[in-house]
Amino acid sequence: MSIQTDKIKELVERRQSAKLGGGQKRIDAQHAKGKLTARERLSLLLDEGSFEEFDMFVQHRCTNFGMEASHTDGDGVVTGQGTIDGRLVYVYAQDFTVNGGSLSKTMSEKICKVMDMAVRNGAPVIGLNDSGGARIQEGIDALAGYGDIFERNILASGVVPQISGIFGPCAGGAVYSPALTDFILMVENTSYMFLTGPSVVKSVTGEVVDQEQLGGADVHSKKSGVAQFSAASEQEGIETLKKLLSFLPQNNRQTAPERPTNDPVNRMDDSLNDIIPDNPNKPYNMYGVIASIVDDGEFFEVHKNFAKNVIVGFAHMGGRSVGIVANNPCQLAGVLDINASRKAARFVRFCDAFNIPLVNLVDVPGFLPGTQQEYGAVISNGAKLLYAFGEATVPKVTVTLRKSYGGAHIVMSCKQLRGDVNYAWPSANIAVMGADGAVGVLYGKEIKAETDPAKQAEITEAKKQEYDELFCNPYQAAQKGYIEDVIEPRNTRFRIIRALATLEGKHQEIPAKKHDNLPL
Ligand code: HXC
Repeated sequence: MSIQTDKIKELVERRQSAKLGGGQKRIDAQHAKGKLTARERLSLLLDEGSFEEFDMFVQHRCTNFGMEASHTDGDGVVTGQGTIDGRLVYVYAQDFTVNGGSLSKTMSEKICKVMDMAVRNGAPVIGLNDSGGARIQEGIDALAGYGDIFERNILASGVVPQISGIFGPCAGGAVYSPALTDFILMVENTSYMFLTGPSVVKSVTGEVVDQEQLGGADVHSKKSGVAQFSAASEQEGIETLKKLLSFLPQNNRQTAPERPTNDPVNRMDDSLNDIIPDNPNKPYNMYGVIASIVDDGEFFEVHKNFAKNVIVGFAHMGGRSVGIVANNPCQLAGVLDINASRKAARFVRFCDAFNIPLVNLVDVPGFLPGTQQEYGAVISNGAKLLYAFGEATVPKVTVTLRKSYGGAHIVMSCKQLRGDVNYAWPSANIAVMGADGAVGVLYGKEIKAETDPAKQAEITEAKKQEYDELFCNPYQAAQKGYIEDVIEPRNTRFRIIRALATLEGKHQEIPAKKHDNLPL
């Protein structure tokens, strides 16, 4: 054998060995926990044969606690580039088989390298997390490594999409990297995120809680809202990440890819003309409205199980990717509260950062009142959504289906918040409040002064009718130019798509500033 052949043999063997990470025993242990390895995850995520690995031979440089005697090529993370549906992405996947995927300084350098490449070359970064956190043996070096990653998360925010999959433990300060990214997906029963684990919680606060209750997928996708998605399995999680990417552009200078459809742009849906119940307090299915107006009825929901009173997600309309924000009359009557405002605001800001037009479907009775909301700062949180819609310069098309009352009317992308095209259905009620509340405020004393209950009811009814006729319709707003048109519900798909087409050349600036100071 020539020297060259020997050298090539050495390369092949080193590659094979690096691919085993922490070794077969640890790979088996990973599988026994129902988890895939970092490489298996990447091979599911990326187009076949597209993965090009970087830094496969990087090793840690730690000499504490006997670490100099234990090295694994590549250390505890697999990094590189590949394609998903033919589009370039940069990836890193923490390898739990190597020191529990704990972060060394060299691992952070590998991760930072792909993040820098992603920003330079304008492509999304996907991080698959499965790690015991900072590598304890490395001390401050490991913490510095996290700092380097966080800094890149911050600088890449709004430049390229950043997506985090949580496929195992994610604890301590390590949770802040995913939290700085645009979307978090967690896998049920095998992943968790928390600042500190159950034993520390018990010693500090006395609370007894297990990992799942403290920071499992259920907790973060339903209660805290930290995770936008949860998946029943790793495979399902990876499919969700791929689907998400299909709605997104590569970076903030591009628009999302178009998706051709056979769904006619001018398809009418007569059932929409009958969808609003006669009784204003009766709910109806907003998901049905969304399905009826978007291409092929396909809606990709974000934050499905959190703050269900507002619905957000992606769809295509006339082949273009759009972000949909809709109040949900089936949950708390579609009222806006702290969580709904936070959820929708973050989504609106993402769409605005990445040139995804917004389509807003409004049926909102107002903000949820009460001490719980006030003490939780509904004012500041509601202002986040107000701010998000107001600052957004992407095309914004809004349709008011039914209620649009008070502050919530303003917040939901009204004309004065630089709404581009605002339509209303004939069933729309655009007013300071509904008839019940208004009559109570305006005529409460007069009604109470009447002793005969039948007479009271008669006056109330007459006043409500008077109020409804004056305000509870779209024509007050239409007369004053606060909406562009009152449209027939069955034409909604066509009207929105045509409006979006006219807005393709939209250009709007915000005043020069260092950065804004939105009410965090
Ligand atoms: C070094 C670690 C490690 C760590 C795990 N390992 N975490 N090595 N530093 N942080 C090693 C283990 O020693 C073990 O090595 C192997 O990884 C697998 O771990 P196990 O404990 O056997 O696995 P499991 O039972 O599944 O438990 C996983 C775990 C647990 C829940 C993640 O390992 C754990 O609690 N680790 C510590 C978590 C933690 O507190 N991290 C620090 C958070 S603070 P061997 O050789 O035995 O296989 C933090 C600060 C970041 O991250 C600050 C940023 C600003």
